[in-house]
Amino acid sequence: MTLIASLPEPQIALATLNRPERANALNTQLAQEITAFFRHLPKDRRAVILTGAGKHFCAGADLKDRQGMNETAWQEQHSALEAALHAVLQCEIPVIAAVNGAAMGGGLELALACDFIYAADNARFALTETTLGIMPGLGGTQTLPRAVGLQRAKELIFSGKSFTAAEALAWGMVGKVVPPEKLLEETQEVAKIAAANAPLAVKFVKNSMNQGVDMSLAEAMAADLARYATLLSTHDRQEGINAFNQKRKPSFTGQ
Ligand code: COA
Repeated sequence: MTLIASLPEPQIALATLNRPERANALNTQLAQEITAFFRHLPKDRRAVILTGAGKHFCAGADLKDRQGMNETAWQEQHSALEAALHAVLQCEIPVIAAVNGAAMGGGLELALACDFIYAADNARFALTETTLGIMPGLGGTQTLPRAVGLQRAKELIFSGKSFTAAEALAWGMVGKVVPPEKLLEETQEVAKIAAANAPLAVKFVKNSMNQGVDMSLAEAMAADLARYATLLSTHDRQEGINAFNQKRKPSFTGQ
């Protein structure tokens, strides 16, 4: 198994990239296992954490595997990597990357496909593709600018240079930086908070924000209102207001 799937807490699913001897570099098998994991998440899960086994999060495409690959084989493998990226992007519940060590190339693109990123203070990030004669092939030219701004992303992608967790935090690409030994604990904490909120509301806001990026403000706000109206007839909308007025914690069911 190149991906370890576990259920560390009620409602949370954890996916650990597991090729530590290759800094969790992405080969076809790992890509297929990521796709399968995201397509077959247990229905009772409300948040996902993606992390890496060992020293690193993910060193991108497996450059040893690619040595001598002809164009057809390269392209075939790339299709598997794209499918994995899309499986992450299409996940309806929050997906949080917990980045330890290096997140390079496709590894950084994988983290950027998640909803947000928590990082260990030893994390290092780069889109190195232009130094390798290729270009980011898993959305990095689009997702990095959305995270750090267009000009900063151009600097990083043209140069391929790496940046630290502290820089990523300052630029807004990373939500929180913690000591490596606290990374999973802190990520699980925020995942549990999101998981305890009304599941339909969380799903709807994720959808609203993701789709809204490609819409005009007016269209995006209109789409929001349609979702808002749908939530009004839910049990969880009643539960939220009742819990507030009864001064207790809400217990949401996703209905
Ligand atoms: N593909 C295949 N193997 C990789 C790899 C990759 N992308 N990245 C690292 N590895 C391998 C190393 O070759 C090494 O194996 P070896 O000792 O048998 O040669 C092992 O993983 C550990 O890596 P190492 O470089 O010793 O660890 P490190 O902590 O010093 O550095 C990285 C880790 C990830 C910073 C460094 O290996 C690196 O820069 N890798 C390339 C990242 C990259 O540019 N990816 C973009 C691909 S498009």
